[in-house]
Amino acid sequence: MQNKMRPTFLLILAVCFGWITTSVLSATDTYFTAAAFEFVQTENCTMDPEEAKQVVKRNLDIYNQATKIAKSKGADIIDFPEYGIFPECNRAQTPFFCEVIPDPLEGKYNPCVDQQQFADRPQLVTLSCMARNNSMVVHANMGDIYQCEGEPDCPPDGHMQFNTNVAFDRDGTLLVRYRKEHLWLEWAMNLPKFKQNPVFKTDFGTFLSYVCYDLFLGRIIEVETEDKVDGVVFSTYWENTMPLEMTVGYFQSWVMGTNLTLIAAGIQHPGQKSLGSGIFHGPYGALAYTFNPDAISKLVVARVPRRGYALTEPESSITAVMQNGTTYDFMSDGDDVEIEGSENILPPWQTQLDDRYHVINMENYTLIKITEPSARLEGCNNGMCCMLDYSAENITQNYYMAIFNGTQRTFQSLYWAEEDCMLVRCDPADGRECAAYPLRAEVVFHHVYLRANFSTPYIYPSVIGDRFRLVSRRQWEYSKALEPDGYNSVINFNSNEGQKLIVVGFKGRCYDRDPPSSFF
Ligand SMILES: *[C@@H]1O[C@H](CO)[C@@H](O)[C@H](O)[C@H]1NC(C)=O
Ligand SMILES: *[C@@H]1O[C@H](CO)[C@@H](O)[C@H](O)[C@H]1NC(C)=O
Ligand SMILES: *[C@@H]1O[C@H](CO)[C@@H](O)[C@H](O)[C@H]1NC(C)=O
Ligand SMILES: *[C@@H]1O[C@H](CO)[C@@H](O)[C@H](O)[C@H]1NC(C)=O
Ligand SMILES: *[C@@H]1O[C@H](CO)[C@@H](O)[C@H](O)[C@H]1NC(C)=O
Ligand SMILES: *[C@@H]1O[C@H](CO)[C@@H](O)[C@H](O)[C@H]1NC(C)=O
Ligand SMILES: *[C@@H]1O[C@H](CO)[C@@H](O)[C@H](O)[C@H]1NC(C)=O
Ligand SMILES: *[C@@H]1O[C@H](CO)[C@@H](O)[C@H](O)[C@H]1NC(C)=O
Repeated sequence: MQNKMRPTFLLILAVCFGWITTSVLSATDTYFTAAAFEFVQTENCTMDPEEAKQVVKRNLDIYNQATKIAKSKGADIIDFPEYGIFPECNRAQTPFFCEVIPDPLEGKYNPCVDQQQFADRPQLVTLSCMARNNSMVVHANMGDIYQCEGEPDCPPDGHMQFNTNVAFDRDGTLLVRYRKEHLWLEWAMNLPKFKQNPVFKTDFGTFLSYVCYDLFLGRIIEVETEDKVDGVVFSTYWENTMPLEMTVGYFQSWVMGTNLTLIAAGIQHPGQKSLGSGIFHGPYGALAYTFNPDAISKLVVARVPRRGYALTEPESSITAVMQNGTTYDFMSDGDDVEIEGSENILPPWQTQLDDRYHVINMENYTLIKITEPSARLEGCNNGMCCMLDYSAENITQNYYMAIFNGTQRTFQSLYWAEEDCMLVRCDPADGRECAAYPLRAEVVFHHVYLRANFSTPYIYPSVIGDRFRLVSRRQWEYSKALEPDGYNSVINFNSNEGQKLIVVGFKGRCYDRDPPSSFF
């Protein structure tokens, strides 16, 4: 009797379990689950249509695997990086990787359901089916091609190609098409002609779809305050820049400054200064992130509180997805972070694993060298003043207080206006006393208090430790108040056991003083 009943009992258990995983693990009233895939992609550029197809297929096969893992972790949305399906190639090669992407504002499109209509567009069909088969929102970055012969401003090769984000709803319907509005020296791509609406709605919140450099400029501030936007779903191939423009550090500071959610998926290519992805939420900062230069793709998953709810059920994971399909729980994030990756002191790069990053040139900053184990210091730069009060065990490495109000011109034609103040680990290079920024530190700090008056309300705070670990939000407070002298901001870090720190600082972004960065 008992033996005969067992299969039925198991069947009931299986059905119940299936029911439980979909109704308990997927979006609830209080939270949803987000996944961001940091990808080490196949980067072959080619003019051979067959090889282009193979590159796309190889990358999408891994997307499909990542989506299934995300589903098993209860994810409601998965986010993929910029240039994840095809690489950044030259203008002539790029069309072999692009598809015609319809505008969801002009009709309802479900490529998984209408496979005949989309027979010539395998990328759209695959992404749409990934969403539909897993009942999950899928957000990814593609190439969109538009034939424009005979139209005004059409390039000589007769078409426009755009760096484009798409999102598909749980049933596979296209929710949004967003063409990147701020290109980062991407000569193969065109700018869209009009400002777009990057908003898409899901059953767990309203989001903006943005790409890389978009996150850095004032246009995003215009849009994020419209409607009831809960956050940004972000695809990037970010070029890390020490000290305050490193992916996960900047992403955390951005959500703290804007009180929004950021789901950020990046390419991992340390040799090209690209590394770091995660899920970030308002005052909590990072819910989960990865920053580990090891050429292994990783799926970061975390529960995100829904609008109006506190973080009561934190749960997160990182899964490594190897090239050969092997996956495992990744527990050692940060272990592979090198001591030094400043591009101005490393030899030319050799391998994909050879981690490095750009550095900010601080020649026009006010720099005050830290010498005493504890002190209270003040400094100004172009009217911007800042106060630092700290205590540490023994200052055995080089640290500076650095203050700046002006224009960053590190990247040739690209520049922007900032008000910055920080305590930073910094070594000599290029004949200057502070020019290289190690990612490891041995000096243990117990207390760091940083206060400044900004002319801008857009202030992004960071506290970052040894091996580029984001210091737990339980160990520091951040506040901002409008006072007669401007926006008075405070970072207050305290720890009895102490922390090895590499940077504590504010980046104030003065969008109103930025030069025009595109035609908008
Ligand atoms: C990419 O290029 C490498 C080296 O040339 C080659 O071994 C590999 O097969 C190519 N991959 C694809 C998918 O074409
Ligand atoms: C979706 O499911 C269908 C039917 O099982 C299958 O043929 C297709 O390969 C799946 N596609 C993806 C991208 O999961
Ligand atoms: C952040 O947003 C939440 C809800 O979206 C709101 O309840 C809270 O007051 C906001 N906090 C700040 C500092 O604006
Ligand atoms: C995949 O590669 C890893 C590391 O090279 C290896 O340990 C593992 O056994 C491989 N798995 C398969 C299925 O080949
Ligand atoms: C920074 O410089 C700008 C332009 O010179 C000035 O308008 C602004 O007030 C300065 N910021 C502070 C905090 O003094
Ligand atoms: C900032 O402004 C406040 C009053 O508005 C003032 O007390 C303080 O000294 C100013 N400077 C700094 C560095 O906080
Ligand atoms: C601080 O470090 C220096 C250099 O390593 C060492 O000589 C000195 O004894 C240390 N002082 C304390 C109080 O640990
Ligand atoms: C520092 O300021 C000088 C004078 O304005 C300028 O020529 C130079 O480019 C600035 N350096 C950097 C790194 O921005």
